Amino acid sequence: MFKNVAAICLHLVGPLWGKKTGASLTQCFHQTLTMAKRLQARRLDGIDYNPWVEFIKLSSEDDIVNLGQGFPDFPPPAFAVEAFQHAVSGDFMLNQYTTAFGYPPLTRILASFFGKLLGQEINPRKNVLVTMGAYGALFTAFQALVDEGDEVIIIEPFFDCYEPMTLMAGGRPVFVSLKPSPTRDGELDSCSDWQLDPVELASKFTSRTKALILNTPSNPLGKVFSRAELELVASLCQQHDVVCIADEVYQWLVYDGYQHVSIASLPGMWDRTLTIGSAGKTFSATGWKVGWVLGPGRLLKHLHTVHQNSIFHCPTQTQAAVAESFEREQLHFGQPSSYFVQFQQASQRSRDHVMRSLQSVGLRPIIPQGSYFLITDISELKSKMPDLPGATDEPYDSRFVKWMIKNKGLGAIPVSIFYSAPHRKHFDHYIRICFVKDESTLQAMDKKLQKWKDELGP
Ligand SMILES: Cc1ncc(COP(=O)(O)O)c(C=O)c1O
Repeated sequence: MFKNVAAICLHLVGPLWGKKTGASLTQCFHQTLTMAKRLQARRLDGIDYNPWVEFIKLSSEDDIVNLGQGFPDFPPPAFAVEAFQHAVSGDFMLNQYTTAFGYPPLTRILASFFGKLLGQEINPRKNVLVTMGAYGALFTAFQALVDEGDEVIIIEPFFDCYEPMTLMAGGRPVFVSLKPSPTRDGELDSCSDWQLDPVELASKFTSRTKALILNTPSNPLGKVFSRAELELVASLCQQHDVVCIADEVYQWLVYDGYQHVSIASLPGMWDRTLTIGSAGKTFSATGWKVGWVLGPGRLLKHLHTVHQNSIFHCPTQTQAAVAESFEREQLHFGQPSSYFVQFQQASQRSRDHVMRSLQSVGLRPIIPQGSYFLITDISELKSKMPDLPGATDEPYDSRFVKWMIKNKGLGAIPVSIFYSAPHRKHFDHYIRICFVKDESTLQAMDKKLQKWKDELGP
């Protein structure tokens, strides 16, 4: 590095060699190495720490059963893998750029598939944008709509990137927490008992509120917002002229007969909602990083502007693979042969397996209605726990997870990371588990839990 800097400086001062070269060289080194100017843009202030990096690293050590990160550790369905193979080995033009806002067969199938579900005539060119995963969709939406000083309402616990994405756009996150109802003796709690206080929610809307982000089924809680809850959110958005960013990446994973309702399908909501989806979550292929946003032209056109000035377009082959997978799924929709049906059933079985196993060591899982995740209460174990290392201001769940990874070989994510800093201390006794895992992973988890149980004794 030092050598490179020296080479550049010499090149720049070369013409001065023999005159005031000594002084110029010293000055050049000095300026390059100390760089008095502020380097990073102000919009990065306060968002540099990302807890995922730390917890993913800890959980990726050998012999750790990683139930932390949200990805399936089993293959995507055979038809999706074949679709990917067709995309790679078929038409050579799929190696080239495609249309900026989405590969046309993909935007067409997304428009027809979701048009039926949302009860909308969706124009593939005006109402669809294909993005780098749902993450890219969220980023594009925040950049396109949130302005300096705008407020964004975020429902806690929340998928943690919503806060930095709001801040990076110059917005102000305004948090409102789902409140659990009191625990019933002997019964497991359900995430449906975690509810918004309608008065508190209404109080968060101001003349500066630009958007509300709604995640259903939610990460990390697994809550599926009921129609009544969505109607409340919808009426407040309409009353205060607010855009709803609906993150619905887990829409196919809803358990126990609950129904996923897209807020965009409620009366008057299509016109003010961006609906975000993920092929990674839909087809168990999170590495493909194909996502999309659906919405009215008046909103989408601004996302198009961000997209054409940043990514421009996403990889063609993965889009082609997702298009073919959706075409297949459309033919089987609602039937036992549908992947969405089979994946939902398999995930519900895994969820039940994990809930039973966690209870064996005294953890109290909160029954999720949907998604890849459940959160489990760790407070009942507290009395049996050793003193946990860690800084005194580090939330208890974070210290617990680090201890559990190191001593029990089980990786999870502390739920406090899904809260804003002021609310973190009230929710520091839950951990998030991803149960969308292969049978062999669940068996490995059972072995670790059995050992833990033996150590705890009767
Ligand atoms: C709620 C939620 N939204 C968006 C994403 C990002 O999805 P993608 O992998 O398609 O970028 C995730 C990933 O974990 C998520 O949990």
